[in-house]
Amino acid sequence: MPSLLRGRLAPLLAVVPLVLALVPALGAPAAAGPDTLFPRLGDASYDARHYDVRLRYDPSTNRLRARTSLRAVAPTRLTSFQLDLVGMRVTSVRVGGAKARWRRSGQQLVVTPRRPVEGRFSVTVAYRGVPRTYRDPDGSREGWVRTGDGAIALGEPVGTMTWIPSDNTPGDKASYTYRITVPTGTTAVANGDLARRATHGRRTTWTWRARDPMATYLAMVAIGRFRGYHSTARSVTGRRIPVWTFADRDHDVPRSVRRTLPRALRFAERLFGPYPFTSTGMVVDDADVGYALETQTRPFYPFAVDTVTLVHEMAHQWFGNSVTVRDWHDLWLAEGFATYTEWLWEARRGGRTPAQQFDSLYAQPASARWWSPAPTEFTDSRDLFGAPVYQRGAMTLQALRERIGDADFFAFLKIWARTYRHGNATTADLVRVAEQVSGQQLDQLFADWLELDGRPAGY
Ligand code: TRP
Ligand code: ZN
Repeated sequence: MPSLLRGRLAPLLAVVPLVLALVPALGAPAAAGPDTLFPRLGDASYDARHYDVRLRYDPSTNRLRARTSLRAVAPTRLTSFQLDLVGMRVTSVRVGGAKARWRRSGQQLVVTPRRPVEGRFSVTVAYRGVPRTYRDPDGSREGWVRTGDGAIALGEPVGTMTWIPSDNTPGDKASYTYRITVPTGTTAVANGDLARRATHGRRTTWTWRARDPMATYLAMVAIGRFRGYHSTARSVTGRRIPVWTFADRDHDVPRSVRRTLPRALRFAERLFGPYPFTSTGMVVDDADVGYALETQTRPFYPFAVDTVTLVHEMAHQWFGNSVTVRDWHDLWLAEGFATYTEWLWEARRGGRTPAQQFDSLYAQPASARWWSPAPTEFTDSRDLFGAPVYQRGAMTLQALRERIGDADFFAFLKIWARTYRHGNATTADLVRVAEQVSGQQLDQLFADWLELDGRPAGY
């Protein structure tokens, strides 16, 4: 459940159990989830707090044996609840230590505990098999992706349910612990901090802790024969941030790229405030998916990392990962900001300024790809990573900057990052913060840039 429901919208909660109770009786599909783009995913009746993910993986067979425990809170009494899971064979489900009934229904694992749960509860799922690679409506691959010598799990927007039974919606963030057992000599990387590495003969267990809240789509494990680079980055405030970088042995990370990482981190800190997490780094592996991904603390890059992409994924640590969308329709809050950060970086390197980037995009004919559908108005999930979300999203920020001026604009970026740090936010939240910072009424500007089909006139 999104934490928002605990605050202002608490009264709404009262209707949730009623709806859930009625739906099975009617034989209808599971209640609509909290997200409007993927309404079948996620279960708003509970709040996930911590995932304890134990994996044992054999790279030669691609088989996984896993046990995931989720600690969660149900504000009201639940006779059943759902997790999202595709593929894998479930062998047991326990709630609070007692065997629970369960069934698979599409992408859902519906759990019926022996006794209803209320307040804090835990659910443990044991499962095994060859995890699936998930194909998105736009044709891209995510989920469990095999590499030459192992695999990497990538989850945007929905692929994490191929390997973690989870409340798979960005509005329900939680902390994670991973214990990943692989053949000795193979490396297992994940989000967060490397807590322990223990070798027992032919097997080694890698323990990673991601203690700050994380959306399921940002969860990552990478398994393979890696070269590791460990160092520390100095934040602008003098904090020492551990850097764990891993690369496939055949995809060396050049020193110049490794040196860029702390620079990109400090560049973003000066603009947005303190780095939100406890460690950083990157994973460079031969998963040929055609995109990089801002997996929390430790982004994934498919091959040679270019500096601008590194800056883009670094910006996501603030916008996307710390301040996370509640609904996928607001993804411009991540991609528009990350693209805008590229523009700021390029300008500082003597390239075009954001104003010049804006002007050259604005000068393109009304038929250019970024004008339609408007950034928040798409209905087809194929448009989730479209040019309107990235380019027009970044243009929205430039339009805002021109309206409110540099001083208020750069103050706004920091206030936005601080106000929703480690939380979830919507476009409406952003409009409100921008109006508070500037003292101007901005609803028309945001409606023009985010909702109007076609090129907004007069900018
Ligand atoms: N979020 C990624 C980035 O901008 C991009 C991304 C993830 C993507 N999955 C995708 C792009 C699928 C195209 C298709 O860093
Ligand atoms: Zn991005």
